[in-house]
Amino acid sequence: MEYDRKYLEVIPDEVIEKDYGCGDPSKWVHAGETVLDLGSGTGKICFIASQVVGAEGKVIGVDMTDDMLEVANRNAPIVAGRIGYDNVEFRKGRIQDLALDLNLLGQALEAHPVASATDFLQLDEIAEELRIKQPLVMTESIDVVVSNCVLNLVEPEQKPKLFREIFRVLKMGGRAVISDIVSDEPVPAAMREDAHLWSGCISGALTEQGFLKAFEDAGFYGIELVKFETQPWQTVEGIEFRSVTVQAYKGKQGPCFEHNQAVVYQGPFKSVLDDDGHRFDRGVRAAVCDKTFNLLQSGPYAGHFTPIQPLEPMSAAQAQPFVCVPGARRHPKETKGQDYDATTEAGNCIEGGECC
Ligand SMILES: C[S@@+](CC[C@H](N)C(=O)[O-])C[C@H]1O[C@@H](n2cnc3c(N)ncnc32)[C@H](O)[C@@H]1O
Repeated sequence: MEYDRKYLEVIPDEVIEKDYGCGDPSKWVHAGETVLDLGSGTGKICFIASQVVGAEGKVIGVDMTDDMLEVANRNAPIVAGRIGYDNVEFRKGRIQDLALDLNLLGQALEAHPVASATDFLQLDEIAEELRIKQPLVMTESIDVVVSNCVLNLVEPEQKPKLFREIFRVLKMGGRAVISDIVSDEPVPAAMREDAHLWSGCISGALTEQGFLKAFEDAGFYGIELVKFETQPWQTVEGIEFRSVTVQAYKGKQGPCFEHNQAVVYQGPFKSVLDDDGHRFDRGVRAAVCDKTFNLLQSGPYAGHFTPIQPLEPMSAAQAQPFVCVPGARRHPKETKGQDYDATTEAGNCIEGGECC
C-alpha cells in the first residue's frame, strides 16, 4: 500500500508491519477535523490521520479485536511523544453497532454473569441502556468517518445497519471516506460460505454498484468513487476483486424553502442528476430551494454550478415551502422581479477592456 512516507516516520515498525489495508482514506482528511476510523486494527490509519488533522483535530479508532487494540493502545503514547501531541484514542466496539461500548458491556457482564435466559435478557437491557446513556460514539459527533478494508468483513445482513450507523455518527455536512474491496460480479453462494475467502476480504465484498447503493440507501449524497484501481487486487473463479475508495456526504436532509434562487449547471455533461433526483441541464437556469442552492455550491458539487440570487433577497420569514417539480426552470423574471425594466450602459467584459 502506498502511504505518504512522511507520515510513516513516526509510526513504530510493529504497527506498519501489520498493515491489512487496501487503500488510504487518510488522503481525504483535513486539518482540524474529528475522524473516526472503523476497524482501526493496529492503528496505522489513525496515526497517519492524527498528523493530518494536527493538534486541533481528533482521531478515534474503533475495533472489536483485543489483540489489535492492545498493539494500537501500546503504540499510541510512542506516536504522541514523537509528534508532540496526543489526539488519538482507541475504543472497543463493533462497527455495525457504534453505540455499544464493548468495554462497558464487559464490565456489566462481570457484575451480572449470564447463567440463564433471564440473565441474558437482563444483559440485553443493560446493553440497550448503555447505548443510550453512554454511547461508544455519539450521534452527529464526527466530521469524517474513514475505514480501510473492513466493511467487507461485516455480515451481509448487518451491512444496512452498518451504513446507517456511519450516517448517524456523522455531523450534518460531514462525510465518509471508505476504502474497501468490491467485486465486478455478485459473489456466488459457495464463495460466500468459504471461511478462508471471508477472512481474505473476498466473500463479504459488495459489488461495485452495490457498494455505492449502500451509501445512497443510508441517505448520503454526492457519492463519488475517488479511487478505482484498474488492476484487480485478486481474481477468484473469474470474478475480479479490486480496491476502491468512496467519498459520500451527509446533509441533504431538511426542509426546502423558496427563495427564488436558480443554479446553472456549467457542464461538461449535457445533463446530470443529483441524489435527490433533481436533473440539471447544461446552461439552463434550474429552480431550486435554498437548501439545494447551498448544497450545490459546496462539498462534492463545488465549481460545477453558477448560483443566481434574486435581485430582491427573500428573508427566512417571507420564504414559503418550496414546491419541488422535477426539471423546473427559473424564468429570469422570477430572479429579477416581474416589473424589472432597467436599461444600463454596457459593462466591461474584461478588466480595463470592452466587450464589443
Ligand atoms: C483487514 S483488517 C484492517 C485493519 C486496518 N484498517 C488496516 O488498515 O490495517 C480488519 C480489522 O477490522 C476489525 N474488524 C472486523 N470486523 C469488525 C467489526 N464488525 N467491528 C469492529 N472491528 C472489526 C478486525 O479486528 C481488524 O482489526
